[in-house]
This record gives sequence, structure tokens and C-alpha cells, in this order.
Amino acid sequence: MIKDRLSAMANPQEAELEILVRARYPLIYLVSWEEGRAERMLTALAAKQDKRMFIWTSTIGFGEPGKSPDESTRDPQAALDFVARSQESALFVIKDFHPFLQNHGVVRRVRDIIDGLKSSYKTIILLSPVLAIPVELEKEVTVIDYDLPGPGELCSLVTEVAAASQSGRFQVDLKSDDVEKIVQASMGLTLSEAENALAKAIVLDSKLGPGDIDVILNEKKQIIRKSRMLEFYEANEEFGQIGGLGLLKEWLQKRGVAFSSKARQFGLPQPRGILLLGVQGCGKSLTCKAIASLWRLPLLRLDMGSVFGGIVGQSEENMRRAIRTAESVAPCVLWLDEIEKGLSGTESSNVSDAGTTSRVFSTFLTWLQEKTKPVFVAATANSVSLLPPELLRKGRLDEIFFVDLPSAAERRDIFAIHLAKRGRRSAAFDLPELARLSAGFSGAEVEQCLVEGLYDAFHQEKELDTGHIRRALAAAVPLSRTMKEEIDGLRSWASSRARPASAGDSAPQ
Ligand SMILES: Nc1ncnc2c1ncn2[C@@H]1O[C@H](COP(=O)(O)OP(=O)(O)OP(=O)(O)O)[C@@H](O)[C@H]1O
Ligand SMILES: [Mg+2]
Repeated sequence: MIKDRLSAMANPQEAELEILVRARYPLIYLVSWEEGRAERMLTALAAKQDKRMFIWTSTIGFGEPGKSPDESTRDPQAALDFVARSQESALFVIKDFHPFLQNHGVVRRVRDIIDGLKSSYKTIILLSPVLAIPVELEKEVTVIDYDLPGPGELCSLVTEVAAASQSGRFQVDLKSDDVEKIVQASMGLTLSEAENALAKAIVLDSKLGPGDIDVILNEKKQIIRKSRMLEFYEANEEFGQIGGLGLLKEWLQKRGVAFSSKARQFGLPQPRGILLLGVQGCGKSLTCKAIASLWRLPLLRLDMGSVFGGIVGQSEENMRRAIRTAESVAPCVLWLDEIEKGLSGTESSNVSDAGTTSRVFSTFLTWLQEKTKPVFVAATANSVSLLPPELLRKGRLDEIFFVDLPSAAERRDIFAIHLAKRGRRSAAFDLPELARLSAGFSGAEVEQCLVEGLYDAFHQEKELDTGHIRRALAAAVPLSRTMKEEIDGLRSWASSRARPASAGDSAPQ
């Protein structure tokens, strides 16, 4: 039975939490956006261990479910006194305490009562959507990330919703295969988001059936988009639209099959990811987008800038949430564009940064090292100076590719690709001459000159010819001329540490 099979995959954090409470860990930080779901889990845990459960919020103080709260404990210090005084064997669930942990007095009070808790049957559980632990408490707190609902919980939800719909006026047409697909499509959503998505899918056509998978996937795209850090990128770029970069393309083509179970059986490891390092406008971002189309996998773009935002502790939580969401849609390509940008932004404000950048990055690097889910990381960068050396070390990513300025042959291809894109026959142009005249130009600059030529031709009410593009090339100053030193530096760094993205004989001239 599918339900039994999926339910067997219980949430590992529930088991871990149970052990911690049994082992009398005094202070546990449970990170979750799903207050209701976490509370239900904790209620079950308390019942199982024959404990009482008190819940605190700053608005009503401590109370037990179903009983009136003790409003005198609304103050954070008073709440901690309440825990210290209590003689009960109990869980003290404290919601959204993170803002109060910025107050030294409160932190001190937590430290004062912790020792007493170790020899009692009392456990404090801080339940909050963000992880923010003051240094003074770092050694005392055990953190548990409460994962989003797994297949078991989602399957129960789908079955419940199906049963409720059937008894209503809706038609339900689900085979066990379809249930599994709907469960798969809902992965990455919170329980209430999944419930809303299902409700929407049913209401749209008054039935629940295999056709609803797309509705749920679409809802998921919307929800991921709302998170602002991650974006479902609709990649229309094809591999054929990349000129040159032959070695990189070959490497990627070979790995396209590596996500199948057949490849696993053959003993192939899952590809982890690549870093494309190189000169501006030479096709790094373009290639990342094309990987997803080539492999037919969803493409998630992680915006490094928005990871580093908001209050202290938020950045790490953002990174972890982004990783968990990406894993829930696996297999997928996770695209980190201009990875050094996020880093440079915080370095300049190193007073307020307080090590956030390195903590966020180490969260990411640890995940890279240990990840088991098929999330392929495609990162791009223009410079190495800001990148943490650990990222560049072997073993984290499969390969670092250096994307240099295109060679003459590659520029010819790039001209041909962009001419074709604009409905022109490349045979009508003198491509060897254009390639020669565009020495030192990036792919993006080649494209810009072509567009410039098109404007001229249109203005003159003539058809585009080689002459228009030739004139645009002559007027343009490529970045490689103004940034010669930076590019040379990057090239010499890459010559011994990175793999070239195109064949060696294609020197940029
Ligand atoms: N090798 C190429 N083949 C075809 N088009 C290219 C190539 N390189 C660049 N282009 C064109 O230039 C545009 C910009 O390139 P892209 O965004 O991929 O550069 P990038 O290497 O990511 O640069 P940056 O470091 O500035 O982000 C592409 O969308 C494409 O139209
Ligand atoms: Mg780019």
C-alpha cells in the first residue's frame, strides 16, 4: 500500500527530539515556520512521555492548551522564573523568543536557570521561524531544524483531503500512482500551503485527479517565488545557442544521464556542481540556464543578495531554508549567479556583519560536502579574490571551469547564432572578417555590436549587412581593453587551478 510505504518515512527530527527530551537536554531550539504543525508534534511527544506542556507567547504568557493562561508571565524574565519555579515534568514551549535574546538580562537569566534544568524533567523548547542564538548560549542550545512535511505526512494529507472531498460534492479520481505524484509535487510546501494548493486544485474543476499535479506545481512555483531568495527560472535557453565553450558543453552533455537510476547502478556518482569563473559577458549565466534545459530539470535561482538581509541570524536561516526548498524539488539545478556579489556586499559592512558572511557560507559549504539529494549547483563568479578558498578546494564541486574571451572561431559561431536568432542568414555575411575585427570582444559585446548594426540599418531603411556590423565594431571599446589587468590576473590564476571551458588552441585572438 502506498500510504504505508510513504508513512514509514517518518520525520527524523521527531525521533531526534524525543531522544533529546528523554536525555534531559535542557534547552532545545526548534526552527520552524509551521507553528501549528510543530505544536501538534510537541503535544504528541509530551503525551507519549507523560509530561505536561506549557506554551508561552509574549502576548498571553504561559498557559496549557485548553486552560486559561497566567498573564503575569508575559514578561520574558517572569516566564523564565515560571520555568525555574515549576515542579512539573513538562515541556515549556516558548514561541518567538528570538527578539528577547538580544537583551543581556534575559540571556543571563536563561544561563542562570539552565543548570537547574539539567537535573530536572523540564525542557525548554524555543520555537521560532528564525535561528538567532546569542554567543553566550551557543554551547547550551541544541538546534533542530524542523523539516517541511515529508512524503508520509503529505500522503496522509492527500488521503484526508480526498476522503473529505468525496463526501462533499467533488469527484475524486486518484490511483495510487497519482497520489505518489501529487505527494511529490507538494514536497517543499508547508502543510498548510499544501492543503491550500490541494483545495485550489479541487475547486478549479470540482474534482481531484491526476490533472491537478500541474496546478500544485504552479502553486509551488508561486510560493517559492514569494520567498524572494529562490526563483523558479523558466529557462528557454538551449545548448545550441551557446557559441564555443566546447569542453564545458561536452562535460555537461556527458553528465546529463548521470541522474538516472541506471547511472547509479552502473556506479556513477551524482554530479555535485560546477563553478564557472571568468570574464564578463562570455556566456556563464547563459550556460547555467542552458544546463537545466539540456538535462530537463527545474532551474532554481538563488539570489545571494537577498540571502544576506534582515536581522541578525536571518541570513543563516535564509540560506538553510533555500537549501531545504531546493532539496525538496530535487532533482534540480540550483543556480547561484555572481556568487561573489553577496559576499562583497557584506564585507564592506563588516561592523554589523559579525561573521555572518562566513557562517552563511559555511552552512552552504557543509551542505555541498554532505548533500545526498540530487541538487546540481551551478555557480558563476567574475573574480576569485572574494571567494572563500574552501569553495575552490577539490571535492566540494566537481569542477571549476574558466570561461575566457571567445577565440576567433568561437566569435564566428556567436555571430552566426545571434544572426540566426534575428532571422538573418549567416551565409550572407562575411563572418571570418567580423570574427577578425572583434578580437578581444566578449560574446555579449559581439551581440551588442550586431544589435547596434541592426539599428543603423533600420534607420537607413536598408537590410543589415557586414558593413553595418563592421562600423559598430570599430566604434566599440571592449571591456577586455579597459580591464586588461584584471583579466590577465584571472587568466593566470585559472591557468593552474581551473579547467578551460574551451579547447586550448582557441586563444582569444
Ligand atoms: N558564448 C556565447 N554564445 C552566445 N551568446 C553569448 C555567448 N556569450 C555571451 N553571449 C550573449 O551575451 C549575453 C550575456 O552573457 P551572459 O549573461 O551569459 O554572460 P556572463 O558570462 O554571465 O557575464 P557576467 O559575468 O557579466 O554575468 C547572453 O545572454 C548572450 O546573448
Ligand atoms: Mg552572468
